[in-house]
Amino acid sequence: MDMVHKPVLANEVIKYLNVKPEGRYVDATYGLGGHSRMILDKLNEHGKVVAFDVSPIAEQHIINDDRLTFIKSNFRYMKNWLDFLGLIPVDGIIADLGVSSPQLDVASQGFTYRTPAPLDLRMDKDLSVTAEDIIRKSSVEQLAEIISQYGELEPAQAIASAIVEARRKQPIVSSADLVSVTRRFARGNPKRFYSRLFQALRIAVNDELNALKDLLEQAEEVLRVGGRLLIITFHSLEDRIVKQFFAKSEKLEELEDSPVLPSHAETRENRRARSAKLRIAEKVKE
Ligand SMILES: C[S@@+](CC[C@H](N)C(=O)[O-])C[C@H]1O[C@@H](n2cnc3c(N)ncnc32)[C@H](O)[C@@H]1O
Repeated sequence: MDMVHKPVLANEVIKYLNVKPEGRYVDATYGLGGHSRMILDKLNEHGKVVAFDVSPIAEQHIINDDRLTFIKSNFRYMKNWLDFLGLIPVDGIIADLGVSSPQLDVASQGFTYRTPAPLDLRMDKDLSVTAEDIIRKSSVEQLAEIISQYGELEPAQAIASAIVEARRKQPIVSSADLVSVTRRFARGNPKRFYSRLFQALRIAVNDELNALKDLLEQAEEVLRVGGRLLIITFHSLEDRIVKQFFAKSEKLEELEDSPVLPSHAETRENRRARSAKLRIAEKVKE
């Protein structure tokens, strides 16, 4: 495993988080602990990081440091946990959404269409519904809704019908099966088509957009005035949610007019950074 792993937008996160040595920070998406480690480096012995992640991979990379509390939970329960730990208000929150590179690399999780794998897509293995269940049980209308809303793919209805027709003949159980039954829709730009199709299923399986909305609502409550909220998104659906939330919030004020993007140097080194967008808001009112 890559122990010198450099988190996305590392310098920008540290700059905008404005870490106070004795502050309390939340890393909502611990991953391999890249952002947590950078925050810990800025804290004195009184500072704290509370980190959340649902992934078993994250659990295997917990930094051994008394100032870090790792919680294996969806970040949509952040407020309850912070309340339980007596750590409200906090000085800053960072969320670097999506999946980590080792999650993508472990083929058995089926996060990528590139390697044949069971259609799972759960970040949290305690969730009961997998992508295979969704493909097996959903109606044409439900599938079309997932494909158009979460994948922004068209013709969603026709793609959904093709899936339902194919599953009558043979169960669709692996990423390779799904790739094969939808191939005729992928002609123009297969890479874009399949990444969006898998993105759509992943969002549905993990209820990702609602979890993000929950996080934003709770962040607004648990931050202290002057505290900062940083969200790194990787696709337009998430970025739109963050942008709109900041725009309508009476307690948060967005700090830059447009999202902060990685430098050319970073995108050259790290493919994943290419679609990253960082939005920052400061709590201005209780
Ligand atoms: C892009 S990685 C974070 C990488 C991390 N910033 C680092 O530097 O190592 C995203 C992580 O967030 C986790 N994650 C995504 N959605 C989550 C949620 N709703 N609740 C908790 N963890 C989540 C994933 O399991 C994954 O490990």
